[in-house]
Amino acid sequence: MTIPLRKKILTVAACAIAVSAGLVLPLASQPRSLTPKPSAAPRINGPTIYGCRPGAPFAYTIPATGERPMEFSATGLPSGLMLDPKTGRISGAMAIKGTYAVKLRAKNELGVAEKTFRIVVGDQIALTPPMGWSSWYMAYTNISDKMIRAQAEAMASSGLIDHGYTYVNIDDGWNVKLDSKDPVIGGQPRDAAGNLVGNKNFPDMKALCDAVHGLGLKIGIYISPGPGTCAGYAGSYEHVEQDARQFAAWGFDFLKYDWCTYSQVAIDKTVPSLQLPYISMRSALDKVGRDIVYNLCQYGMGNVWEWGREVGGNYWRTTDDLGIQPEDKSLWTSMSRIGFAQAGKEKFSGPGGWNDPDNILVGSILWNDKLVPTPLTPDEQYTYLSLWALLDAPLIFGGDMTKLDDFTLGLLGNDEVIEVNQDALGKQAVPVAKLNDCEVWAKDMEDGSKAVGLFNRSKSVTTVTARWEDLGITGKWKVRDAWRQYDWGVFENWFTQKVNRHGAVLLRLFPVVEPKRK
Ligand code: GAL
Repeated sequence: MTIPLRKKILTVAACAIAVSAGLVLPLASQPRSLTPKPSAAPRINGPTIYGCRPGAPFAYTIPATGERPMEFSATGLPSGLMLDPKTGRISGAMAIKGTYAVKLRAKNELGVAEKTFRIVVGDQIALTPPMGWSSWYMAYTNISDKMIRAQAEAMASSGLIDHGYTYVNIDDGWNVKLDSKDPVIGGQPRDAAGNLVGNKNFPDMKALCDAVHGLGLKIGIYISPGPGTCAGYAGSYEHVEQDARQFAAWGFDFLKYDWCTYSQVAIDKTVPSLQLPYISMRSALDKVGRDIVYNLCQYGMGNVWEWGREVGGNYWRTTDDLGIQPEDKSLWTSMSRIGFAQAGKEKFSGPGGWNDPDNILVGSILWNDKLVPTPLTPDEQYTYLSLWALLDAPLIFGGDMTKLDDFTLGLLGNDEVIEVNQDALGKQAVPVAKLNDCEVWAKDMEDGSKAVGLFNRSKSVTTVTARWEDLGITGKWKVRDAWRQYDWGVFENWFTQKVNRHGAVLLRLFPVVEPKRK
């Protein structure tokens, strides 16, 4: 491969300065997208590991970028599973526990891509952080069947599906609003048999689930264990098992279980009382024969991260809503306050159970009740995604998928950034150095590399340095810029870069193995 001259000079110069006095490189982010356009040749994205339970319906769409038509194949697929060569969708069910190493292949006119993929049939799902979208921050309760279908279609047609985005999650507002006189959202919350019903904006929940599945995606639902949800819609109180069965019968793959009015019925707020509703829905979900990702939402009460896994959660919100809190003056204050406060919670996060600092408010979101571009600057958005990737946070986009611009698509769909988040080791990053308002965070990756974030929370451009000493490494390491998907070269002792105000640089460091001397 020939390296363009300009790049060559930069790389050489960078290496030369690095060994002497530290390195100064061009500024990180600009309003333009740093993410290179995906190649027309195939690339298989997404995680290298996927968990499912024995007997549960299996559904996995191989996320792959590259020109269509594309032909998919797989070797080593366990019996019980089938792959559709045209769509790349794997379906079926497996009865026996075990780990199966599968070689996935995607081929188009321009080439072939391969990837080893481990399917783990066992007790755990969500072996990597779930990726998807939620209706809350772009619509609040102003949702409908039509709108959810349009969002799901956009997840597929925008190409987000090719980067691994999967869950289309309906938040509050889909069922009957208690005490409402509005003929569309009011009425009887349950039928004569006590089964939950959708409001008139959601006339057929099963048909909606089928339509989303038909796109190769998964679908999520929301309810509270209390009598009502936070926005006043019907809750699951006294109907837990029945509702779990109903969600599974409709075909849901994800449940956000939001504490809300459970305060009215909880005995107190001790940890056992906080756990109670989550344990009871867990045991109900265990009986439905479907893999349903279980999202605990109770705003971090009782240090939920310490016991979320124990009560069977697949991820748990560690804080109150990120969409701006009274003490925060801006979305930047709220996002950075919450994001950086995940330090210390790393030991509770890992395959099957993740810390959740809330959804990603970029693109078009509701802000002061209007659908507008996120108030975050491009640099703040790079900080958001870099931090969420390093934190192994569920990547749940909160904006309108039908209004994705190139910048937002690049931000959400950078496969090397997503790779950091989806790494099979599942090790949440930790801060390794802090100087004034600058921080360096690092995360161990399964292949022995490191993902490193250089963050500048200050009000001006600042130089941030990743020192090998802080990272616990020695010797030569190849430094790659994950956003630009570009190798800066080989470095020893440290790597320095200027980082914009409120900006971030996300790096991958790969050990350089020196050939042995004879
Ligand atoms: C809040 C929750 C939000 C959203 C909202 C719906 O309690 O934290 O994420 O689900 O309820 O009313």
